[in-house]
Amino acid sequence: MDDKNISQAVIGRLPRYLRYLGELKDSNVERISSQELSELMHVTASQIRQDFNNFGGFGQQGYGYKVNYLYDEIAKILGLNKTHHLIIIGAGNLGQALANYMNFERRGFHFKGIFDANEALYGKKIRDMYVQPMDDLITFVKDNDIDIAVLTIPKASAVKVAEQLVGCGVKAFWNFAHVDLNVPKDIVVENVHLSDSLMKLSYNINIKQMENE
Ligand code: NAI
Repeated sequence: MDDKNISQAVIGRLPRYLRYLGELKDSNVERISSQELSELMHVTASQIRQDFNNFGGFGQQGYGYKVNYLYDEIAKILGLNKTHHLIIIGAGNLGQALANYMNFERRGFHFKGIFDANEALYGKKIRDMYVQPMDDLITFVKDNDIDIAVLTIPKASAVKVAEQLVGCGVKAFWNFAHVDLNVPKDIVVENVHLSDSLMKLSYNINIKQMENE
């Protein structure tokens, strides 16, 4: 797939399409038109067609999309047909919450281990994993084919820990620490800031209030 010119905005919308298609699949819906999908998802049919045209269309004109096929194709584009091995660095509130969320596994993301620098946490069981010391990190990453690290540690230590992980073969970071990581260009970083979403919410509350005044 040549996706070099596909905007991040389009990529950012694919998970939502996948969620809706997953629900349609679960309800045994076999076909859906862009108009029906548009009504269901509250986006315009033309937006849907434009998004899908980035990947060659998927649909037959006037015939609708085959739900199973479309679901599988979007999952493939998102790389969800592959399995990933993750570790979590930082077994605090956020790290534990992520470790306890089972649904990531359904998408092919397997949590293999959780690490922390605080020895009071060593041996604590979180779901089916024991919190491990940072001293065991390098060997564990190499032995378990870990490709993604989730960083749920304070920003003061995230940059250094990320460098260490790149050194032992980690290829991607799901970074919750509020700091930009200093990693080589071939390493993939997805920064997550829940507060960004909350600020967007705040903006939209403001807009609604202004409309009602
Ligand atoms: P927490 O204090 O409950 O957990 C942090 C854990 O990291 C602790 O267990 C601590 O021992 C461990 N840690 C500290 N330095 C370490 C190191 N060098 N190596 C390994 N482990 C280390 O904090 P919480 O609430 O879980 O948040 C974690 C981080 O995520 C914080 O920096 C917070 O600002 C950030 N955060 C980000 C959010 C986002 O949307 N991006 C949302 C919530 C928190």
